[in-house]
Amino acid sequence: MRKSIIIGNWKMHKTTSETIEFLKQVDDVCTNLELEAGVAVPYVNLAVAKQYAKNLIVVAQNCHYEDFGAFTGEISVDMLQDLKITHVIIGHSERREMFNETNETVNLKAKKLLAKGMVPVICCGETLYQYENNETQKVVENQIEKAFQGITLEDAKTVIIAYEPIWAIGTGKTATAEIAQKVCAIIRNKIANLYDNVVANTIRIQYGGSVKPDNIKELLSQPDIDGALVGGASLEPQTFLGLVK
Ligand code: 13P
Repeated sequence: MRKSIIIGNWKMHKTTSETIEFLKQVDDVCTNLELEAGVAVPYVNLAVAKQYAKNLIVVAQNCHYEDFGAFTGEISVDMLQDLKITHVIIGHSERREMFNETNETVNLKAKKLLAKGMVPVICCGETLYQYENNETQKVVENQIEKAFQGITLEDAKTVIIAYEPIWAIGTGKTATAEIAQKVCAIIRNKIANLYDNVVANTIRIQYGGSVKPDNIKELLSQPDIDGALVGGASLEPQTFLGLVK
């Protein structure tokens, strides 16, 4: 049985003081959850978030694939691991669209994280144009195939995939539970083709894109959706609690 995981992706929101305030209000209440829950905070708040989060997983929003070097502004996996960070989002569509993230760099980052025993949260998803032109399956399968290149069967089981249709991010347009389920099933099928049914049945697939307290239940009740990656609705303590409770 796969355990669901909900991650709030704060993107470029919340100062250090706001992060502490949020965690003081939320973390204690998150004991005995039936699922795993976490917050992906900006880099500068990772260390402080680790101090205040006892129940929530503190997630990083990105990493570099090289161990160290002349990469101004970048953060290595060792730096994250030293802070006891275990989960890292990679390949978010905002990074693909605005910061030159490619399927190749996503693959390099995934392999680096797995080599260090960490959990990559690999994002995939199609644009509105691709969705309207019935290219969703082709685009998402290609993203998954490239992201998993060279990843062993054992490692693949530990990865989390987040399906986030770009047209549903921050737009208030959620993919219907039916659409989200259909694409998550396509992704699971693709994993079965790349590996086997055991990996496909083990790997967790989140849905992301305008997830709110009032639609999360239906989304998570779909057979192939094992959690959510949530932007806007994860920023307020009460709505975050509405998502995980
Ligand atoms: P919203 O929940 O604000 O649509 O953002 C989704 C997202 O990009 C999470 O990574």
